[in-house]
Amino acid sequence: MITLALSKGRIFDETLPLLKGAGIVPRGDPESSRKLILRTNRRDVRVVIVRATDVPTYVQYGAAELGVAGKDVLDEHGGQGLYQPLDLGIARCRMMVAVPVGFNYREAVRQGARLKVATKYVQTAREHFAAKGVHVDLIKLYGSMELAPLTGLADAIVDLVSTGNTLRANNLKAVEEIAPVSARLIVNQAALKVKRVAIQPVLDSFAAAVR
Ligand code: ATP
Ligand code: PRP
Repeated sequence: MITLALSKGRIFDETLPLLKGAGIVPRGDPESSRKLILRTNRRDVRVVIVRATDVPTYVQYGAAELGVAGKDVLDEHGGQGLYQPLDLGIARCRMMVAVPVGFNYREAVRQGARLKVATKYVQTAREHFAAKGVHVDLIKLYGSMELAPLTGLADAIVDLVSTGNTLRANNLKAVEEIAPVSARLIVNQAALKVKRVAIQPVLDSFAAAVR
């Protein structure tokens, strides 16, 4: 049995056509069902539905051989025990630094100000600001980062931006790109060795579906 870990929402929705291209069709829809394990048209493949941030953990420990996770989530996780053989080109967005529209970020950085930065992506933010030599106090949040500068919790945020609608709606502006983000197919390293005969064809058909 091969287990594929997916999160519901955009990762599940955008992986579905690639899965279909790879000849795998999940039975059931995680949006309308409370089931966490979905069978597929293939007796030897099943899908488990987990939180987006938990996908690398399931694959790292081999509870799932395969998974689909955003580069944002993988960078925070660290990628231990995982291969990342394929950029699926889905769930595309950018990791950005954003501030209130009236805030002069460049000037604050130039003056060496110490900035309070709220984010779900503490590792990514720490590395980014350290590389730039910007002094920051990081504040860990689990969502709605855009609220932090509006309430005085932080001067800036590090968050994902796609259309920019969320920033605009909250009177914020992006001032620095940290990295482009897209979802990756991930594979448990040990499983790929032990179960290569079963897993490699699935990887190959995913790669063909992406092309
Ligand atoms: P969790 O449930 O763990 O809090 P989440 O709510 O961030 O996760 P999703 O919103 O489904 O989960 O996001 C899953 C992935 O999709 C993210 O890790 C990121 O790679 C990508 N993503 C997030 N927001 C966007 C967006 N606005 N546009 C495109 N891709 C996005
Ligand atoms: C993400 C992210 C931003 C938003 C950016 O949130 O944390 O808040 O998307 O997207 P935008 O630039 O297109 O506005 P979330 O996963 O909640 O996005 P969703 O609202 O699309 O679900």
